[in-house]
Amino acid sequence: SSTSYEHLIVSTPKPGVGLVTLNRPKALNALFTPLIIELNDVLKKLDSDKDIGAIVLTGSERAFAAGADIKEMKDLTFADAYGTDFIEVWSDMTRIKKPIISAVNGYALGGGCELAMMADIVYCSVGATFGQPEIKLGTIPGAGGSQRLTKAIGKSRAMEVILTGNNISGKQAAEWGLAAKAFDSAQECVDGALATAEKIASYSKIAVKAAKEVVNKSQDLGIKEGVEFERRVFHSLFGSKDQKIGMSAFAAKKKPEWSHE
Ligand code: HXC
Repeated sequence: SSTSYEHLIVSTPKPGVGLVTLNRPKALNALFTPLIIELNDVLKKLDSDKDIGAIVLTGSERAFAAGADIKEMKDLTFADAYGTDFIEVWSDMTRIKKPIISAVNGYALGGGCELAMMADIVYCSVGATFGQPEIKLGTIPGAGGSQRLTKAIGKSRAMEVILTGNNISGKQAAEWGLAAKAFDSAQECVDGALATAEKIASYSKIAVKAAKEVVNKSQDLGIKEGVEFERRVFHSLFGSKDQKIGMSAFAAKKKPEWSHE
């Protein structure tokens, strides 16, 4: 993309992979509105870019993001927050159709943890620090933390984390299933995320999109409706070229050449 951003670095380090790096180092990537607007802009561009199959979102070695910007929020009134639907703009990321992997190093606190959890896959380094410290500021998570953390690690653990403001190490995050994997170093974490993104980007874009859609439905639907939804989407893929390409390549002992149709 030719757009340049003030608070993000965007690159394509592997075929089919967009890498978005949060870059507001002086504030440990605190997530103020101008940064979120840039993030939404780049994610939408990557989502509609035919050459991109998966996205990696990362920060620095010191901070993925230390939270929503406390200085931006501190003087808001109820009317400001309610009137502007403060934080709603963060939800744009959940409407991206291509897979997003967050590669979390350093602090992922408050809104930083919530942003990481909006991704489809979370990777981290063992030394990463996740947490929802809002209780210490006299408030609560506001970008989905109470819901997504509870789904990720279960009610009792989520209650403990949110009510105490205690942090979770990257090692613990992987043990509890908040992260899919914890790597030994920040570099390995980013490299691991890029490798996974590259693998995803090598598959049929239509199948990948459908796979993400059906897994996400499990977060909203009961098991019966979820399984029925999956089956309908599965049936619909018999209308894609890539299902024919993939299955005939298997039968012919060849490598599939996806049409993405
Ligand atoms: C604004 C922040 C910030 C934040 C850090 N900074 N976090 N600014 N909002 N969330 C700024 C600091 O003010 C400081 O600016 C600079 O970044 C470096 O931070 P230090 O505190 O000096 O670094 P350090 O001593 O290493 O401590 C790191 C830290 C600490 C433990 C991460 O910064 C911290 O506790 N940050 C706040 C974490 C937090 O409470 N997050 C949740 C926010 S509430 P100066 O100008 O002094 O150099 C939230 C609500 C979500 O996210 C709900 C809706 C999304």
